[in-house]
Amino acid sequence: MHPGPYNPPPGAYPPPGPYGHNAPRYGHPGGGSRRGGCSCLKWYCCCCCCLFITVVLFLAAIVITLIIIKPQVPKYNIDDFAVKTFNITPDFSLKSHIVVTVKADNPNKYIEFEYGHAKQPTDNFVKVMYSNVELCSGAIPDFTQPKSNVTMMNIDLKGDLKKDDWAEGSGESLADKLKNNDKIPLVVSTKLPVRIKIGSAEIDNEPTVISLNCTMNVKNFGTGKKVEISDTKYEVGLYVNKKFVKLNGFKFF
Ligand SMILES: *[C@@H]1O[C@H](CO)[C@@H](O)[C@H](O)[C@H]1NC(C)=O
Ligand SMILES: *[C@@H]1O[C@H](CO)[C@@H](O)[C@H](O)[C@H]1NC(C)=O
Repeated sequence: MHPGPYNPPPGAYPPPGPYGHNAPRYGHPGGGSRRGGCSCLKWYCCCCCCLFITVVLFLAAIVITLIIIKPQVPKYNIDDFAVKTFNITPDFSLKSHIVVTVKADNPNKYIEFEYGHAKQPTDNFVKVMYSNVELCSGAIPDFTQPKSNVTMMNIDLKGDLKKDDWAEGSGESLADKLKNNDKIPLVVSTKLPVRIKIGSAEIDNEPTVISLNCTMNVKNFGTGKKVEISDTKYEVGLYVNKKFVKLNGFKFF
């Protein structure tokens, strides 16, 4: 007889156990518990796989949603100043009424923006500053900007300054610049609460507060004149949980 599959050479299998039969393959002195350990390991692997697949699918869903929705930051531009009243008297009291036109461009096909509805009134303002003196101020009206929409917001700003409200010499320097029709450096400082809406779903319950500061030079500034705006520079930031985050790395404009 040659050794073959059915005729194993002697010694190919372990000799019979002490009680005349083979030792159980996964046998343990304690018996049986190792088998449970293996299925536990399988179950664990299975769970890991499921979790991994779920995470991958979830991330893929987010990426696909973002590709479809293509969220874009809205663009804001100060388009015009209509100076209704701007009279500085020889004793430096100043009554002013300016209507600022802000062009808000929402390029998103699926996202709406809801402006205003501030929790605190101090979270919604527009101020015009001249060398750290507030000349006039107002608030942005509550409104919802639809998808793919450009809206001109007209914001009424009013101010009533007295002699003592000016910082050192700023009243004189403003009066001089107005008289000589020089460029006047202004800062338009804004805080604006915004809520994001996708479809009918509102994403944020609390509005996000955007801070927008625009430094500029204006010429031809005075009651009823056509104001010329130049050298505009924008700074943007967000208040997230009352913490200020500057967003100047972003391309807004
Ligand atoms: C943009 O939205 C405003 C406010 O809802 C609306 O009055 C205006 O007609 C819209 N403009 C365009 C171009 O659709
Ligand atoms: C805008 O100016 C105000 C007052 O100076 C400041 O508190 C705010 O942080 C500024 N915002 C940005 C985006 O720089």
